[in-house]
Amino acid sequence: MSFISSAAAGASPILASLLRPSTIVVRSKSKVIQSSSPLLYRNMATQKPKVFVTRPDVPKPAMDLLRERCDVTTWGEERPVPRDYFLKNVSGVDGIFCLVTDRIDAEVLDAAGPQLKVVGTMSVGVDHVDIGAVKSRNIRLGYTPNVLTDATAETTVIVLLSASRRVFEARDELMSGRWGRARGDRLTDAEFVDFDTLCKESDFIICTAALTPDTKEIFNARAFSLMKPNAVFVNSSRGGTVEQDALIKALKTGQIFAAGLDVMTPEPLPVGHELTKLKNCAVLPHIGSATIQARMAMAMLTTRNILAALDGKPMPESLN
Ligand code: DGY
Repeated sequence: MSFISSAAAGASPILASLLRPSTIVVRSKSKVIQSSSPLLYRNMATQKPKVFVTRPDVPKPAMDLLRERCDVTTWGEERPVPRDYFLKNVSGVDGIFCLVTDRIDAEVLDAAGPQLKVVGTMSVGVDHVDIGAVKSRNIRLGYTPNVLTDATAETTVIVLLSASRRVFEARDELMSGRWGRARGDRLTDAEFVDFDTLCKESDFIICTAALTPDTKEIFNARAFSLMKPNAVFVNSSRGGTVEQDALIKALKTGQIFAAGLDVMTPEPLPVGHELTKLKNCAVLPHIGSATIQARMAMAMLTTRNILAALDGKPMPESLN
């Protein structure tokens, strides 16, 4: 039996950061046999920090880098991890690698346990994370701004043009033999104005705002009532910024000309949802950042955020 204190010389930065000043690991050969705190269950000779990854299809180079330094557990199916599986398997981890589809709240953080040091979300949006709950537990929060800007801008333009030229409607006509002539509008210049002026005067209104208490359903019945009948509304941020029933009504009644949505509520949108039936609404399945380059950059940044936090170093992109 040997006793190893946290002051053990030569411990790697990650291992060192895992150990509190008073930490003592009690072990026999390579097997931990006794401990008085969760952190003491670590076998310093072999144990790496544990990270739970909520999807199996994260770009491989990012997973390879994470695995070099961490003991990685991954949800096995290419769909969001079920809540009960997540809560069960996050127990005892040092880091969580998650996506926008995973709600990170007090329940998850408590299920993980007090040793949890970092949550790295592979997204620029963080509305799925209870930031207060993360901060109050002194957990670091990494995210991925900038690296997806070009990809999401392209998607925004795709839905904007698809909506304004009613491309989806034209394609439906082509496919069904009702070949017609799609109506369309043209892009104009832009300038900074207040919200009401924006709604009243714009031909194209593009929502790219983060979802916060201030922006929740900011595009509501009142906002749509201010818009011009030829207005094209585009949303590539979060469905929660829109009062969706009011949007549907505005589209049905011709209060606005068309909408292009990469995001909506809920996601995924149920098959046959009213939004998908509106001829003047171009809907995409939240593919804003879905280019190989952007997703690779996001995954690598998330891994680097997690590794930096585990090393006790500044994270490349963090919110705390
Ligand atoms: C993000 O990262 O927040 C985007 O919505 C993903 O497409």
